[in-house]
Parts: sequence; structure tokens; C-alpha cells
Amino acid sequence: MMEDPTLNQKPKVFIPEIKIQARLIELAQEINQAYQGKPIVAICILKGSFIFFSDIIRLLDIPLTCEFLALSSYGSKMVSSGEVKLTLDINEPLEGKHVLIFEDIVDSGLTLTYIMNLLQARKPASVRSCSLLFKPESLKTDVHVDSVGFKIGKEFGVGYGLDYAGKFRGLPYIGCLEHEH
Ligand code: PRP
Repeated sequence: MMEDPTLNQKPKVFIPEIKIQARLIELAQEINQAYQGKPIVAICILKGSFIFFSDIIRLLDIPLTCEFLALSSYGSKMVSSGEVKLTLDINEPLEGKHVLIFEDIVDSGLTLTYIMNLLQARKPASVRSCSLLFKPESLKTDVHVDSVGFKIGKEFGVGYGLDYAGKFRGLPYIGCLEHEH
């Protein structure tokens, strides 16, 4: 089998570490103000959000518990498969709680739509979403994202938790890969 040349690229710096950290401080301020000390259930959407989640929860000044949901929609390609699968669920009841979802990226919006439907059915007091990256031009649903770190175009972002075929999650910055031809 031919090796995928994209895996050998060194991703170009798209959003440097320092810019990410500065934006996280602003996002955390927004969240602190929105909840005014009310406790939240902070939900990390695995795998891509694990670094964003770890960084932002340490900047929050509200009582929180952490929960983890794992979903997968991408194979090893650069476009969403369109099919969202739940691979790890939350065991804690969410009824009457304020839930805040942390995503690394909202691309087609299919994953966030799936999550919103899943969690709304559990009767929380509120559900909001915060995504580090948002691709408005790629949206295929009318899902709303309450807080966005960076709006981006068609770039394929990797690093800071985001992967391409399982690779690049450990980069400290957000890089971009050239599209396959
Ligand atoms: C990525 C990302 C989001 C989702 C966004 O997850 O972490 O959850 O895709 O895409 P969408 O808006 O088009 O649905 P992925 O399925 O690649 O799994 P991973 O987080 O484990 O890498």
C-alpha cells in the first residue's frame, strides 16, 4: 500500500501557541461572567479536545466537575464521514445541571448537533458549547456555538489535540496541512 504523503508533512504554523493561550484567557473570562459562580458540568469531547479542555478548565473560576464523552466521525480522511458514533458515554446524571461542552473544532456541525440532542434529552438546566475552532463555511447543520476561539476557513487544522489519521495531536500550536491532490 502507498504511504499517505500527508503524514510526512511538517504542519505550517497556523495559530501559534501564544495566540491560543491569549485567546483562552478571553474565553475563560466570558465563561466566568456567563455563569456568575454557578457550578457547571464541563464536558470534554474526546479525543480532539483533551488539550484545549485541560488548559481552559484551569483558567475557570467557577465550581466544576469534569466529564468525558468520546465520539468519532472522521476516518483517516480530511472530510467528515457524516456518521457520528458515540464510543464513550457519561455515567453521571445531568438533570437540572448547567452543562458546558468543550469541542476542539466545529466543522460540519454534525458532531455538536448529535451531542446537543444526546444531552438535551437528559434534562439539564442548560447546555452551552465552546469550541476552540469553528469553520462557518463548512457547516451543514444550523447548530449554534456559544463561544468560539477562532473562526477559520477551509484549512485542515492539526495539533493542540487535533489529528490527521491519528497523528500530530501533540503539537503545541495549531498547524495546517496542505490538501491532498
Ligand atoms: C473531530 C473534532 C470534532 C468533530 C468536528 O472529531 O474533534 O469532534 O470532528 O467535526 P464535525 O463538526 O464535522 O462533526 P473526530 O471525529 O475527528 O474524532 P477525534 O476527536 O477523536 O479526533
